[in-house]
Amino acid sequence: MSSAEQTPPYTGAGQDDATHRPRRIRTHHLQRFKDASERFAMLTSYDAMTAAVFDEAGVEVLLVGDSASSVVMGRKTTLPITVDELLVFATSVVAGAQRALVVVDLPFGSYESSPQQAVETSVRFLKEAGVAAVKLEGDASLAGHVEALVSAGIPVMAHVGFTPQSEHALGGYRVQGRGEARQKVIDDAVALQDAGAFSVLMEMVPAEVAAEVDRTLRVPTIGIGAGSATTGQVLVWQDMLGLNSGRVPRFVKQYADLRSVMTQAVATYREDVVTGRFPGEEHSF
Ligand code: KIV
Repeated sequence: MSSAEQTPPYTGAGQDDATHRPRRIRTHHLQRFKDASERFAMLTSYDAMTAAVFDEAGVEVLLVGDSASSVVMGRKTTLPITVDELLVFATSVVAGAQRALVVVDLPFGSYESSPQQAVETSVRFLKEAGVAAVKLEGDASLAGHVEALVSAGIPVMAHVGFTPQSEHALGGYRVQGRGEARQKVIDDAVALQDAGAFSVLMEMVPAEVAAEVDRTLRVPTIGIGAGSATTGQVLVWQDMLGLNSGRVPRFVKQYADLRSVMTQAVATYREDVVTGRFPGEEHSF
């Protein structure tokens, strides 16, 4: 099979080389996906090795999510993670990714105070880690922050609907945009797009509300628990590959059971060590 046959056509992303795949995904490629009614995939990543694997698998966008706070660092929420901590993860993902667009979350407390604070934090992520874009959680009240970032040359992905950094204000993990709250999700998305966001991510929003947002917006939308009508989808990799032991949210599809695979392999390794089967002669000098 030729390399051209192995890869999807990616017509929406342009034909930047002989394989018809863009050498590096840029924000304008995501726009072309939307314009061509094509889809793209986004996955979280926090280290160079998974970034390289996901990139090789063709995932278009890697998100260095503040979910690192829980799925990597073992904390209960995303709130405690700091800019310095996320910078280490972001630097690692940028080192492992060749083609994917790398986007980083602005951690809680690092951007809300003012547009200037948002710019200063984002500049660190672009300068010190080398990410291509930032994501911020919030509603239309952050339109000024988005404008300031875009004026400073920083691409912004907006995150509306359920925003985990506001879980205490929102009263826990709950679907947003039901009933009268529907219009707010739509208005937030429009305001953030109009402020210059290159895409809008929606988390835990009813599928038909997300579909209306996608129809209303010019820019691509990305969903997590937001149905199938968005331009892109995102999942936390430990959820979709089955590494998490806890309750799996309804919106997650598990594509592997890495926890079982790893547990069995590690138990076999241990057994080999304690019984003297490892290392063998072939592993010895
Ligand atoms: O931090 C994260 O992983 C996220 C996704 C859930 C979208 O923001």
